[in-house]
Amino acid sequence: RFYSVIPAGGIGSRLWPLSRADAPKFLHDLTGSGKTLLRATWERLEPLTGPDRIMVVTGRAHRAAVEAQLPELTDRNVVLESEPKDSSAAIGLAAAILHHREPDVIIGSFAADHVIGDVRGFHRAVGEAVVAAEEGYIATIGITPTEPAIGFGYIHCNGNLGIAGAPGAVGADRFVEKPDLEVAKRYLADGNYLWNAGMFISRADRLLEQLGHSQPELLEGLTELAEAWDTDRRGAVVDRVWPRLAKIAIDYTVAEPAAAAGRLAVVPGSFDWDDIGDFAAIAKLHSGGRKSDLAILGEGARVLSDASSGVVISQSGRLISLIGVTDIVVVDTPDALLVTTSANAQRVKAVVDALKVSG
Ligand code: GDD
Ligand code: MG
Repeated sequence: RFYSVIPAGGIGSRLWPLSRADAPKFLHDLTGSGKTLLRATWERLEPLTGPDRIMVVTGRAHRAAVEAQLPELTDRNVVLESEPKDSSAAIGLAAAILHHREPDVIIGSFAADHVIGDVRGFHRAVGEAVVAAEEGYIATIGITPTEPAIGFGYIHCNGNLGIAGAPGAVGADRFVEKPDLEVAKRYLADGNYLWNAGMFISRADRLLEQLGHSQPELLEGLTELAEAWDTDRRGAVVDRVWPRLAKIAIDYTVAEPAAAAGRLAVVPGSFDWDDIGDFAAIAKLHSGGRKSDLAILGEGARVLSDASSGVVISQSGRLISLIGVTDIVVVDTPDALLVTTSANAQRVKAVVDALKVSG
């Protein structure tokens, strides 16, 4: 009864100029494994559901790249968006289509752009989350926070739910999406908060019901789309309904209200998890925590370095030489070059936003 959903749509603007609208984060190999993040996500999920029960929701523009990465993906399991409408619509539409096809289905939505070290630990946590979902919860996976990050959702945990088959599952009474730094520091000090790993496991009908409480019009649109999806009316309904869908993240429309209503469960994950949100995270990933190392990524990269550390990502083939610079970030693409430091990596997003404004 379990179906995996991979929403693959975010641009990842903190990783500019590597990540672009036409080559988003999930289409890159950021770990040096030879696999894109999307491919790695697929291979992590395949043992759970088999290749026939993984649905990918992505933009029309990414269709060819996604299909090249995932040759096993069937047409029935690809949902193409005419325009990005954020994760409530992406995950909600997958839930609505799958629920229409299979009323009892349990879905697990997994971000396309995460790095997970311990796949068995991941499978164990998802297994428990599915059991909690069978009990009617909207289940998330929680990660022990290590810093007051402002790019994540925070989940306040209370007691163990005592669900047989899900010994780790705890209740959540509050979910706060992307708090500001002061609040994040408080949550970290509190000790009872976990980061939301960006995975939602739930009966499709429960998830849609919860979405309908906060976004009744969005639910109506998604239901209309789902009913027409497998018919020849799909195109007409998409053209009419899609532009009007609310653009909002699922963390606000489902996770926050579900926690407030006591319907959210959290399974603490014991596996290594990284959202690799910026270049500092990539540097850390490749240096194994050693500050003195220089990580070099990119096929055919040519780098000369002396007493330097940080990360170089080369897509240009140009010879790059670093002398006596520490914690440096160099990203060299054919048409844009970024030079910054690990400490400033989060500020890349602001530069990209400014670029968008100025065209
Ligand atoms: N298809 C599609 N269309 N997918 C989308 C869209 C869209 O318009 N917008 C976002 N997504 C996908 C992303 O590709 C990613 O797989 C997932 O939805 C989450 O979106 P992000 O934009 O990456 O969210 P975030 O990283 O800011 O925050 C989420 O993830 C954090 C963990 O990485 C939240 O769930 C946080 O609470 C969480 O801590
Ligand atoms: Mg993300």
